[in-house]
Amino acid sequence: MTRVFAGIAAGGTGSRMGADIPKQFLPLKDRPILIHTTEKFASLDGIDAVFIGVHKDWISYTEDLICSFLPAYREKIFIIPGGDDRNETVFRIIDAIEERFGSEAEDIILTHDAVRPFVTDEIIADNIRLAKEFGAVGTAVKTVDTVYDSADGETVTCVPDRSRLYQAQTPQTFRIGLLKELYARLTPYQKVHLTDTCSICSVRDYPVHMAAGSYLNIKITTPEDLKIAETLARELL
Ligand code: CTP
Repeated sequence: MTRVFAGIAAGGTGSRMGADIPKQFLPLKDRPILIHTTEKFASLDGIDAVFIGVHKDWISYTEDLICSFLPAYREKIFIIPGGDDRNETVFRIIDAIEERFGSEAEDIILTHDAVRPFVTDEIIADNIRLAKEFGAVGTAVKTVDTVYDSADGETVTCVPDRSRLYQAQTPQTFRIGLLKELYARLTPYQKVHLTDTCSICSVRDYPVHMAAGSYLNIKITTPEDLKIAETLARELL
């Protein structure tokens, strides 16, 4: 049986949100955003364990939240210190998984933004199915807006063909051994500049398959997003 782990990237500070606590801890409907997101993964039988990477100053706070809001899943949730950027948080989670559970060739990790609480069971299942078959998966939706490419930030350099453009979401899901191997082959420059985990694969010419995302699977980044999320939460959470 392939083991499936979830890695929740919750190590950011939420500077664009501008709240006095990191945005993943802000309340949405009745509970913190991070709790909604974590429950989506922890409640699935097909997921063996959930690792949450948070800034070290927020570890005990997060532990308290899990004990209060998700006591039924306490045994399958592990909280670890995140890194300086999202990829570092993901690789720290991978190290923690291997420390705790060892490694098996087919192990899979779903990496997910803590601030995307509207992820669905279908999106998660599609990620797992494709990752088992192909090794690397990114969730995406077709871009609905026309996108301008501007080299100088003032004038339009070109208008890419919208029919080929997709917006990246999470989960991004990988065979753990494959992701580690591809990462080890990056140059030091690439390690710093490839901020998207899927690009670790595509830059090494390893194909990343796309799982069908949802326009409701939004990332809560700004105060405006939080307002939209509050409306969505009334119906979806
Ligand atoms: N993240 C992480 N570790 C980091 C930085 C970000 O795990 N060192 C996580 C965030 O917590 C978030 C996700 O990656 O769940 C997506 O990042 P983003 O929305 O950019 O979050 P922040 O970095 O917190 O936001 P900002 O860029 O506004 O500071």
